[in-house]
Amino acid sequence: MAQKEKDALSGVETTGHEWDGLRELNNPLPKWWLYIFYVCIAWALVYYVLYPAWPLGKTYTKGLLGYSQREEIVAKLAEGKKAQEKYLTAIAAKSVDDIQKDKDLLAFAMAGGRSYFNENCAACHGAGGQGAKGFPTLADDVWLWGGTTADIYKTIQHGIRSDDADTRGTPGSGMTAFGRDGILKPEQINQVAEYVLSLNKRSTDAAAAEKGKAVFDENCAACHGDKAQGSLAAGMDVGAPPLVQANWLYGADKATIVQTVTNGRAGVMPAWSKRLDDATIKSLAVYVHNLGGGK
Ligand code: HEC
Ligand code: HEC
Repeated sequence: MAQKEKDALSGVETTGHEWDGLRELNNPLPKWWLYIFYVCIAWALVYYVLYPAWPLGKTYTKGLLGYSQREEIVAKLAEGKKAQEKYLTAIAAKSVDDIQKDKDLLAFAMAGGRSYFNENCAACHGAGGQGAKGFPTLADDVWLWGGTTADIYKTIQHGIRSDDADTRGTPGSGMTAFGRDGILKPEQINQVAEYVLSLNKRSTDAAAAEKGKAVFDENCAACHGDKAQGSLAAGMDVGAPPLVQANWLYGADKATIVQTVTNGRAGVMPAWSKRLDDATIKSLAVYVHNLGGGK
């Protein structure tokens, strides 16, 4: 065997590799490095024996400890489901009011309610229930059908003018189409619109507004109340909004009011009792009640 060449300067053997005149020295590996390397090998061997390691076609070496992350996750999921079930059963068994009195249940119902709301309701009522034209704001204190927990629960269960047998309102009914049905002449509609505007201090035609009062008393008070306070405040259950307020369902400008009185309105809210289970509906009622406007 050929004698390895020695580097003249350091006296260390070279490996015989040379690049552009630079020769590689054959220094031994540092001891600390070598020992860590051996420890790693030993560690790997112990690991192979104890833990799942080598693939064997369709299966794998299971290891002596029988450890499995899959089983751990399955156990954790079952644990989480059990904890949830405890809450869901309690929610299903209690009234919406009693759920709100229990701090833990309230927190659980609010978290669930928020996600169910985004999934099922936000498309019409907006994220956070801010509402849109024809879709009432649920975060204010104007309620057409009632803002207590029991009212909200019933509204969500059975809907409004929906196909549910216990729906609020009657399907197809709502605000009468006074113009289209020939009950009021355009002039009277103008007068009653001015009267409604005058109640909100926005009328620009005092004479018409004054004549409009009679039209209102005769045609509108039966549903909206004699002071236009809304059917709910007047003790009726027909869903006629207050006409003196800030948050209008369809619009507070004169053109929209005239359009409402001329063609009528009949908003439809679907019933949810056949689509969502009771705990979900109660969680939604808790969430909506806590949006800011609950009574
Ligand atoms: C397809 C559109 C639509 C969807 C989806 C919808 N709503 Fe409604 N909702 C309405 C309309 C329209 C009204 C108003 C009906 C009316 O004119 O009286 C309403 C009214 C309500 C009211 C009564 C408000 C009041 O002032 O009394 C509540 C409460 C309500 N919705 C909650 C919900 C919840 C909770 C969900 C989700 C489970 C939901 N809505 C999904 C359209 C919808
Ligand atoms: C049969 C009951 C009934 C009568 C009578 C009635 N309304 Fe209504 N009105 C309603 C209902 C119900 C609504 C809400 C419709 C909906 O939710 O889609 C409504 C809505 C309105 C709105 C829209 C409010 C908003 O927030 O945008 C205006 C304005 C209005 N009515 C004015 C009148 C005037 C003026 C008269 C009389 C000429 C009148 N209503 C007569 C039931 C009635």
